[in-house]
Amino acid sequence: GPTGLGSEIVTLINKLQDVFAAVGSSASQIDLPQICVLGSQSSGKSSVLENIVGRDFLPRGQGIVTRRPLVLQLIHRDPPANQKPQTLKESGDANANPDEWGEFLHLPGQKFYDFNKIREEIVRDTEAKTGKNAGISPQPINLRIFSPKVLTLTLVDLPGLTKVPVGDQPKDIEKQIRDMLMKYISKPACIILAVSPANVDLANSDGLKMAREVDPEGTRTIGVLTKIDLMDAGTDVVDILAGRIIPLRLGYVPVVNRGQRDIDSSKAISQALEAEREYFENHPSYKGKAQYCGTPFLTRKLNMILMHHIRATLPDIKARITSQLQKYNAELMQLGGPLADGNSGNIVLTVITEFTNEFRTVIDGNTNDLSLNE
Ligand code: GDP
Ligand code: NA
Ligand code: MG
Repeated sequence: GPTGLGSEIVTLINKLQDVFAAVGSSASQIDLPQICVLGSQSSGKSSVLENIVGRDFLPRGQGIVTRRPLVLQLIHRDPPANQKPQTLKESGDANANPDEWGEFLHLPGQKFYDFNKIREEIVRDTEAKTGKNAGISPQPINLRIFSPKVLTLTLVDLPGLTKVPVGDQPKDIEKQIRDMLMKYISKPACIILAVSPANVDLANSDGLKMAREVDPEGTRTIGVLTKIDLMDAGTDVVDILAGRIIPLRLGYVPVVNRGQRDIDSSKAISQALEAEREYFENHPSYKGKAQYCGTPFLTRKLNMILMHHIRATLPDIKARITSQLQKYNAELMQLGGPLADGNSGNIVLTVITEFTNEFRTVIDGNTNDLSLNE
């Protein structure tokens, strides 16, 4: 089934959080970067985000569907130990699970186990704040998803770049949306997924153009090419992937999301990911490099970037924990020396050292088989 962001990194982060808990440190959360989607309207941004998360819950479709920023916080939460197995039979969502739910900031305390209901609430609140006629608003919707399967991380779904006002949109819609997007993508800790439909000339990609304005070195922009399945027969994106058209330091990933007909027939995300895999494995242009195509590769690329980020912050985390331990030991000495059997400081240091070694192994394993330029 869908895996979302890699389980290895989820396990590692959890261990690190355990270490923090062991030393009683509160100010030691790792700040992971935010991931934002950027691109023109209907390029497939919401579809890409949904595939990364591995659950169906975002409104998608032709025209302006995403009309407010959606700040999606994924929060890792293990099920309580000794929990009795439960079922959620009353739910309309076949994947409903008592360990996974969503909560909106504007509806405190209300847990959504049915992800279809999450989508309905996004639509309802969008309409409540912006009307039904294509209006937009910079006021974000804040949604938290709690699950044992996710990495604690923030993803942001954004309205698409557009030029001509429709419906209730203001005359300066282009500028209003740009300003809204700029607030998110200009943050140095934002990883930009610059989404461009493969059936439109890449030179016309508004997302790539805007990403370049805020990230000229391309250190935090990943190119995502959607709608590969809608390209004219006999054409492909091989030249783009090889960096021969508009080179991007972190490269491009081609994906096949669900088409409008799949949305209308409620095609399951697991089926969509399976169809995507088959598409790349059987296409004459991609079958030799299918492992560098599709949502799983995009997810691995994101994992790798997150791991690099964590590796860069590890020395600081270690320093903070060490100073905490020194303070703790000093307090113990004042109380008359360490406990007779007490060795807890050493235990924590051992855990951190083991963690660091394991972390290096995983990072090296993941970076060795990932060619950024493929
Ligand atoms: P957004 O406006 O950028 O968030 O785009 P959506 O994710 O809402 O998708 C817009 C439309 O494009 C929907 O009808 C999707 O079904 C369709 N779409 C998105 N990605 C693909 C793709 O890779 N292949 C096909 N065939 N359709 C896609
Ligand atoms: Na759309
Ligand atoms: Mg959208």
